[in-house]
Amino acid sequence: MAIAQQPEANPLVEGLERLPVPGTTLVIFGATGDLSRRKLLPAVYNLAHDGALPERFNLIGVSRRAKEDAEFRDFAAESIRSFSRRAVDEDVLEGLLPRLRYIDITFDDEASYSRLADCLTARDDEAGQSLNRAYYLSTAPEFFPVITRALKGAGLHRHQDADVRVVIEKPFGTDLASARSLQKVVASVFRESQVFRIDHYLGKETVQNILAFRFANYLFEPVWNRNYIDHIQITAAEDIGIGSRAGYYDQSGALRDLVQNHMLQLLTFVCMETPASFDADKVRDEKVKVLQSIAPYPAGEVAENTVRAQYSGGVMGGHDVVGYLDEEGVPDESRTETYAALRLEVHNWRWAGVPIVLRTGKRLARKVTEIAVQLKEVPHLAFQSAGSVGVRPNQIVLTIQPNEGVSISLGAKIPGTRMRIRPVNMEFLYGTAFLSQSPEAYERLIIDAMRGDATLFTRNDEVDAQWSIIDPILQAWREQDGDLARYAAGSEGPAVADALLGEGRHWRPL
Ligand code: BG6
Repeated sequence: MAIAQQPEANPLVEGLERLPVPGTTLVIFGATGDLSRRKLLPAVYNLAHDGALPERFNLIGVSRRAKEDAEFRDFAAESIRSFSRRAVDEDVLEGLLPRLRYIDITFDDEASYSRLADCLTARDDEAGQSLNRAYYLSTAPEFFPVITRALKGAGLHRHQDADVRVVIEKPFGTDLASARSLQKVVASVFRESQVFRIDHYLGKETVQNILAFRFANYLFEPVWNRNYIDHIQITAAEDIGIGSRAGYYDQSGALRDLVQNHMLQLLTFVCMETPASFDADKVRDEKVKVLQSIAPYPAGEVAENTVRAQYSGGVMGGHDVVGYLDEEGVPDESRTETYAALRLEVHNWRWAGVPIVLRTGKRLARKVTEIAVQLKEVPHLAFQSAGSVGVRPNQIVLTIQPNEGVSISLGAKIPGTRMRIRPVNMEFLYGTAFLSQSPEAYERLIIDAMRGDATLFTRNDEVDAQWSIIDPILQAWREQDGDLARYAAGSEGPAVADALLGEGRHWRPL
């Protein structure tokens, strides 16, 4: 009997899992903040649950408020119980909590960092070895440069026997100039290989699956170009409003909040060339080439290629909801956009002439993040016109969330004596194909930062290229004050966004 041969390992896919996780002390700045409570501490717990943390692991929470270790451990336990993706196993939690410590630091008081230095040294002494250090900056962004400088002042940015890394949350700047000045500070303290800029979309399984879909299948590559693809729609719709985040959101708006980072990252995954391997720099080299191939709009072309809008009151799930201007903390006169849509083009041989349209918004009909790749119409319809009614161009839809999966629409014959065609979907759903629950994005990103794998983090030149695309739009929107459209909460967004797609094309319904 023939023995089936094991397929050879695919170095592109295997590469993602390759590095071990060395003993590490993770320092979370802003440890009592919202992100830490909802995402980071639960992520650390789930890593502990999966046995993914290194044997020698410590977590030091840093914030401005004075707190005892015990109080911080109670805070962490409560956060984990409230937000962990799986039910808490008390034994795992009991094992993790003693590894947590707390230090209060006034971020701009360099002298107070000596207590952090002592605490780090004490952890090394306990371990009997120099542990790696990962500083996670999860504070308000104005403290990113302050903490970075202070770490250098305290001599904590290097270690002769261990790796020191810094993880920087978003936003990395609020425009090109501020991103560059933050980068200047970061580069004066850390080498680029020490820096891990977070874009949590890259930690999502379904985002990584875009690469698996494209580069582990022979089927799609031949059509993945301007010869066969009519256009690409990238949607990140949310049903939620801005909650209690008016202070942040009103300064940011949809373009900075989601397009500059998450949506442009999705675009790079869809449009990049095959990297030679999954080495962090090889992947990021390809992504940055895509971003640099998007020519920023000249000021005069912004209006025809972009739409911005703000939600007014409406009905969601049978309940009345208020408009943006009536949300708590939003100034009466605010002109901040809660919806942004734009048409971009990647100017290279693969994509020239293919419209890539992006849309995102709060308080839209439902939450869905997806990439729809629409192929061209077939060049000749052999069926009688009466029977061709249902023929539609094929669409490949990569659904990032919810109902994670991939679907491909095909024209199929409706059973019967006539040749009538209807689109049907061929679907792969994560929920049914794999029985295990996907890890949260932050689990993957924390572990990757600890093992020094920067593949799923944005490099400085990527951030720079992203802001270079967004900056002229921000500027034109500031200067041309008159064109903020409105859409009702719970709707599909403003009708004016239809024009971005061009004649005969339509947004996918939400
Ligand atoms: C964050 C934005 O980066 O991403 C939020 O600041 C947004 O406004 C969130 O709601 C969306 O993330 P996710 O993972 O829920 O799609």
